Amino acid sequence: MFNLILFGPPGSGKGTQSEKLIARFGLKHLSTGDILRSEIRNGTALGLEAKSLMDQGKLVPDAVVIGMIRAALDHNPNAKGFLFDGFPRTNAQADALDALLSEKKTSINIVLALQVSKSELVKRLLNRGLTSDRTDDRDESIIGSRIEEYERKTAAVADHYRKFNKVVFIPGEGSVDEIFAKLSTEIEKRMTVDG
Ligand code: AP5
Repeated sequence: MFNLILFGPPGSGKGTQSEKLIARFGLKHLSTGDILRSEIRNGTALGLEAKSLMDQGKLVPDAVVIGMIRAALDHNPNAKGFLFDGFPRTNAQADALDALLSEKKTSINIVLALQVSKSELVKRLLNRGLTSDRTDDRDESIIGSRIEEYERKTAAVADHYRKFNKVVFIPGEGSVDEIFAKLSTEIEKRMTVDG
């Protein structure tokens, strides 16, 4: 199996690049944001609980998202590997992910961390908010809260994986194709080393 985490702040391009990477490398895409939005659309109890937090730009409780990832791993026993997008977002989530993967006799091979300036993040998200149904993109103060949550709780997750020499930082500004090429090169290198 080959498992990768696509890491980075809100608006850094994780969703955009994930679509291209899963097509190229045949991995199963697991986006906790997408799963939560689908729960909201389906009006589930979990979706209702998550919606008020997401609308404020705050993280959903660890236990909720860890449960979602556990279920997703169990439902995809034959996956060639997973691309985690928007997860893990806290050190507790990272510990839980390591334990879940270890139960399945696998682990994270690489963490690709997209680096984008704050002004570019805000610009991209406000721009998407003009046309998408993402309510958390419409208001600059909610976008600010999302970036703050990232800085306070999520950025440290990179340190967790740096201890194991698994993090590669990738400049996330430029064309989508240029960034995709850089990500693909790093994945191919790691696939060669890890067999
Ligand atoms: P989530 O859905 O994960 O959203 P996010 O992290 O805020 O990230 P985005 O989807 O907004 O951005 P992205 O990095 O994927 O960039 P994208 O490719 O879309 O989370 C939403 C919420 O759910 C959280 O706030 C939280 O409440 C909750 N949640 C989710 N996971 C959780 C977890 N693990 N724990 C707790 N809570 C959780 O691109 C953004 C825009 O930029 C697009 O319009 C795109 O077209 C554009 N763009 C992309 N690349 C480029 C480029 N190279 N140049 C110019 N524009 C670009």
